[in-house]
Formats: sequence, structure tokens, C-alpha cells
Amino acid sequence: MPNAVFVLDFGAQYSQLIARRVRECGVYCEIVPYDTTWSELSARRPAALILSGGPESTLVKDAPDMDGAILKSGVPILGICYGMQLLAREIGAELVKLDHSEYGPATLRVSNRETPLFDGVEESSRVWMSHGDSVVELPKGYCALASTGRCRIAAMGSPKERVYGVQFHPEVVHSQYGRTVLENFLHKIAGLGDDWKMESFLDRAVEDVRARIGSARAICALSGGVDSAVAATLVGRAIGDRLTCIFVDHGLLRQGEVEQVVAAFREILHLNVVAVDARKRFLKKLRDVEDPERKRIIIGHEFIEVFEREAARIRGVKFLVQGTLYPDVIESKTPLSKAGHKIKSHHNVGGLPAKMGLKLIEPLRELFKDEVRELGRVLGLPRAIVERQPFPGPGLAVRIIGDVTEDRLEIVRAADAIVREEIDGASLDPHPWQYFAVLTPVKSVGVMGDGRSYANLVAVRAITSDDGMTADWARLPHTLLERIASRIVNEVHGVNRVAYDITTKPPATVEWE
Ligand code: XMP
Repeated sequence: MPNAVFVLDFGAQYSQLIARRVRECGVYCEIVPYDTTWSELSARRPAALILSGGPESTLVKDAPDMDGAILKSGVPILGICYGMQLLAREIGAELVKLDHSEYGPATLRVSNRETPLFDGVEESSRVWMSHGDSVVELPKGYCALASTGRCRIAAMGSPKERVYGVQFHPEVVHSQYGRTVLENFLHKIAGLGDDWKMESFLDRAVEDVRARIGSARAICALSGGVDSAVAATLVGRAIGDRLTCIFVDHGLLRQGEVEQVVAAFREILHLNVVAVDARKRFLKKLRDVEDPERKRIIIGHEFIEVFEREAARIRGVKFLVQGTLYPDVIESKTPLSKAGHKIKSHHNVGGLPAKMGLKLIEPLRELFKDEVRELGRVLGLPRAIVERQPFPGPGLAVRIIGDVTEDRLEIVRAADAIVREEIDGASLDPHPWQYFAVLTPVKSVGVMGDGRSYANLVAVRAITSDDGMTADWARLPHTLLERIASRIVNEVHGVNRVAYDITTKPPATVEWE
């Protein structure tokens, strides 16, 4: 891979974010463990190297170190936080432990513009710091480039060696000119172009998967969601019909989804899909279950049983494909820099690989959600799948408060379809992040025609959010709300009242459960 940048990961929280930012600058980037040797690296012809931050201090004994040959290689290097201190130690600079660590926002003052690192960065700007040690004296050939209130040398560099260090974190959005600093390093210092695209990631990932799976077979559980769809399509591109996708229809998906997923995979992507109609089985197990946590457990358990039974029918399977994303990796606190990939425990098929003796293939584990959507587009997945809203694994079972029955599923499905159709068709700014209908356990009196009705209350939820962690209720136009409510009571049998949820998260959650 020409023009690849490698991030040496010293255990930072932000290593993936660095890689992502580099990719956003149009440069291909990969993460490698901090102790990768120069002979291993040089075989991959790195165009530049970035040393990540890390939780340790370079001043402690046995602090993670790098191969000294890397610094002598002549490849442009940028050290970030711990990475800068490590460089400083290697070049013989003086480091001290600060009396008070510096965490959070700080004001960066650029003091030297002889190098291009701070081109386009204002004299004074906001940066994000997180360090306990500081560089205080530099050897000949290196100059201090910027400072903060607490840190006299917050950036350093040697134009001749093309080795630079920044004490702050340019990869986080809180660093005002972080992106500019990274661009300067990549384009102006390392001389890299900006023409890398998701297509190149795809080519490499397909090659990797092909090499790992060899002539064996793989299976993948499709959920209808974007992650498993993209992972399956990518693996399908690598091994063709030696991949079998298993789609368990638990009867808890939204209107049209089952048909949409199966058609997309069979007709557009030409993948091998086994669709299992398990609707009756799931409904039976969910009968009279009201507690949402029990619903989740039952659905997870049934899913594994059905999946395992179907998988056992396919011969020669050695691999299980999963659409694990980088945020899942962070959540399960798996160190990416060292092997031992743990699987997120709440994943539906989490316990399966070991139980079934399968090896895991996770082609998306370096990517963030929006990068996965982009990859899905490159792979030619239909928009309906690529832009699908987040949807709970247990599906509509958690959007029916109380007992899950076929009748109640029909109500929530029909109401939800109206909510989606109306909001999808409206031009809203910002467009809500997620929107759906909830069937409450409340019945109330109404008048319909000339008669009295006693029917269900449907709640409509529409939120704005970046990531689902916090959310605000969407200020939908009254005319739109009116149309949604009117259509639901007129078109969905068994509903005579509609309420709109105007709570934020926190204190409420997005789902009602
Ligand atoms: P809550 O309700 O916890 O939801 O505020 C936050 C976001 O997560 C989605 N969600 C799930 N996604 N499996 C998923 O993949 C699940 O079991 C699940 N439960 C909630 C929810 O829709 C919202 O976007």
C-alpha cells in the first residue's frame, strides 16, 4: 500500500481517532502495536509515522518503548502527547514531571513559524491537553514551536529530520486547529497527496479476508442493520458463495424490512442468504412476558439457538463474520494494540465462536459508524440499508410496552411506518436522528364516528442526537405532527390517541422499553 501512514499505538484512547482523522485528510492509515520493529515496518513502506499518546509516563521504568531504528529511518514522524515525550527522550531532550498535570482545554501560543506545522493556525488557539510530564530543554537541531500556560514546549520539531512532536491532541475536535496541524504534517511535511478513498480500504480489506479465509467457508448473521450488512457484503466480495448469510426473521422487525433485506442480499448483492422464519417460535416464547429485560434475554437466547441450528447444516464452516465497529471495541475495552480480541458480551452471537469452534472475522473493527455507511455506499448497498436508523436488537418487542402479541405487533408496525414515511418525506433541518412509534399499555376513551371507542395510545418519539448517548426531542412542525397523529388514528386499527414524547435523554432514554 503506497503512501500509507502507520500509527504506533502506545495504548492511547485516541489511536483510532488519529487513524480516522488521517483518513479524513485523504491519506491511508493503519494502526500497529507500539513495539513493531523497523524491519517489519519498512517492509510496508511507510510514508509517515505517528506515535500515539499513551497512559504511561516515559519517565517510569519499563515505559512502552519503540525500536530506535525507526527514528533513524528518515521517515517523517509526528509524536502526539506520549509520542512526543518518547521522541524527546530518544533525541536526548530534557523531560520533567509536572507538579500539576495538565488536563483539558488550554491556550496554545505559536512561537515559531519557520516550519509548516502551524501554517494557517492562529497565534493563539484552543487545544486539548492531557499530560503529566513536560519537555523542558531541546537538543541542537530541534526548536520549540509553541507553548501553553503550563507547558513551555508544547510543540517541537526538526525540519531537517522531519521529526515533530505536539503535546496536545490534534485529533480531538476540542483542538481548534487540530485538523490543520495534521494536514500540515501529512501534506506539507511528509509530502503526501490527499487522494485516498474508501475504495482503497475496501480493496485491502477484501484481500485480507481472502487471505485469512483461504478455501474455507464462513457464515454471518444478518440483522437487517447496516453493520452486519456491510461486513457480509465485504466478505461476500472476497469469498463469493463460500459465505452463507443467515437471516433469522424473529417477527420483530419493522414493516417491509424482512423483504427488503432478503431482496437486497439475494437480488442486488447476489449473496447466499438462508432466511429462517422463526416468527412463531419467538412469539410463543414472548407470550405474557412484560419485563423488558426478560424480553431481551429470551430473544437473545432464541436467536442463538436458531442461528446455531442453521449454521450446523452448513458443512466446512471455519469462520464467523461479525460487524463489530471500533466503538464496540472501545466499549468492551479491548486493547487494539495487542491481540486477544474480546467480543462484546451483549452481541447476539457473542458467545458463539468459541462454542462452535469458529474463528472471528471482523472487517469493520477499525471503522466508525459513518465510515461504515460510506463503505456500504462504495459496496453498492441500497440506501435503505446504508442509512437505516439505529434499531434495537430485540426490535419491536421493546417498542411494545407490555405483552407482545401478533395484534400488538401489527399496530406498532403500522404506526411506525406512518411516522417514518411522514418524517422521511419532510424537509427538516436538522433532520431527526431517530424516530419511531411506541405502543403503550394505556387504553383510553375516544369518539369515533358516532360511537364511543376504547382503544390504544401510541406514543411518537423523534430525537436529535449525534450518537444516541444524549438526545433532545425534535421540534417537529405542528402541521407534521398533526398529519402523523391524524393518519395513525385513521389508518391504524385499534388506536384512538397519539402522544408526542418531549423528554430529553437524560433523564429519559431514547427507547421506552
Ligand atoms: P437508549 O434507549 O438506551 O438507546 O437511550 C440509545 C440508542 O441505542 C439504541 N438501542 C440499541 N441498539 N441494540 C442496538 O443495537 C440494542 O439492544 C439497543 N437498545 C437500544 C436505541 O435505539 C438508541 O439509538
